[in-house]
Amino acid sequence: MKAILITRKGGPEVLEMHQLPAPVPAAGEVLIRVAAAGLNRSDVYSRSSAVYGGASGLDIPGLEVSGHIEACGPEVVRWKKGDAVCALVTGGGYAEYVAVPEGQCLPVPNGMSLVEAAALPETIFTVWLNVFRTGKLQPGERLLVHGGTSGIGVTAIQMAKALGSPVYTTAGTDEKCRWCESLGAKKAVNYKTADFEEAFKEIGMDVILDMTGGDFTEKNIRLLRTDGRMIFINSMRGRKGVIDISEIMSKRLVVTGSMLKPRDTAFKTQLAAEVEKFVWPLVANGAVKPIIYTTFPLKQAGEAQQLMESGGHIGKILLQVN
Ligand SMILES: NC(=O)c1ccc[n+]([C@@H]2O[C@H](COP(=O)([O-])OP(=O)(O)OC[C@H]3O[C@@H](n4cnc5c(N)ncnc54)[C@H](OP(=O)(O)O)[C@@H]3O)[C@@H](O)[C@H]2O)c1
Repeated sequence: MKAILITRKGGPEVLEMHQLPAPVPAAGEVLIRVAAAGLNRSDVYSRSSAVYGGASGLDIPGLEVSGHIEACGPEVVRWKKGDAVCALVTGGGYAEYVAVPEGQCLPVPNGMSLVEAAALPETIFTVWLNVFRTGKLQPGERLLVHGGTSGIGVTAIQMAKALGSPVYTTAGTDEKCRWCESLGAKKAVNYKTADFEEAFKEIGMDVILDMTGGDFTEKNIRLLRTDGRMIFINSMRGRKGVIDISEIMSKRLVVTGSMLKPRDTAFKTQLAAEVEKFVWPLVANGAVKPIIYTTFPLKQAGEAQQLMESGGHIGKILLQVN
């Protein structure tokens, strides 16, 4: 099969297309003939950062795919050859075939194209886990999500709105802010030209999904209302921030965070079941849609990652494979 390898740590040029044997599905796994793969920030870190694993020259990036099931390993109960699925994978998505535990696959929602479905798993699983399961966002409670036009942001805006919560966001240009508001955010603030704390301090937030960290941390803590929850999923402005402990005590705040990629199959399978039960109906009725900025052919994975790093996109970037 054709697959993109991270041949060494570096820029987009280290992503090379190679011919490799297709994986063989183990017990409980299915082999997917990949139609499309979604890009995620983590793919860029896997390629460029020494802190992330994958320096062997044999790592295939990619955390989500869609496609048809080509073969089933022993003990697979739900799926059969030919089923159309999308799946959360733990690497290996930038390839013509990938083997994945059957519990990490979900059916392609009715009326959605196979390619579009590749835009769903990573962001929906992440938002469900952090905003709804951990953050316990309730209808009517306010959510602030930074990075409103990121793959995560566009999903969080739609899911929170669909489940009855007003959503607020930040983004780096006025155009991106207006776009977030057209998607359903109550208000978006351009963090490069305005102070989001000033903009939101009158109303306060119940839950904050934060990918920024750094200097935004103390502002986030001040913005949280009593019993508020802050969940970190990255720290793009810096890993260190100032936290006023008295704010945490007096408002009984919960400050936590998570990383989805290293979680085990049992955890991801359980999460997939929750997503299918609680979020898939929102996708089926059109309340949560894949927001696709553009699609590249698999061989242009480097260009696709370059676009992601430039920040020029809104929503998801996909690789079309088969
Ligand atoms: N922990 C987990 O399990 C998990 C899972 C999935 C994703 N994530 C994280 O979630 C984030 C979004 O992922 P994605 O794949 O959707 O990426 P993406 O589409 O590339 O989005 C990155 C976002 O970060 C914002 N951003 C970048 N630098 C910033 C800065 N200095 N200050 C404020 N905002 C900044 C960008 O906003 P502007 O362009 O408007 O500046 C953009 O909206 C990434 O940080 C990723 O690592 C974590």
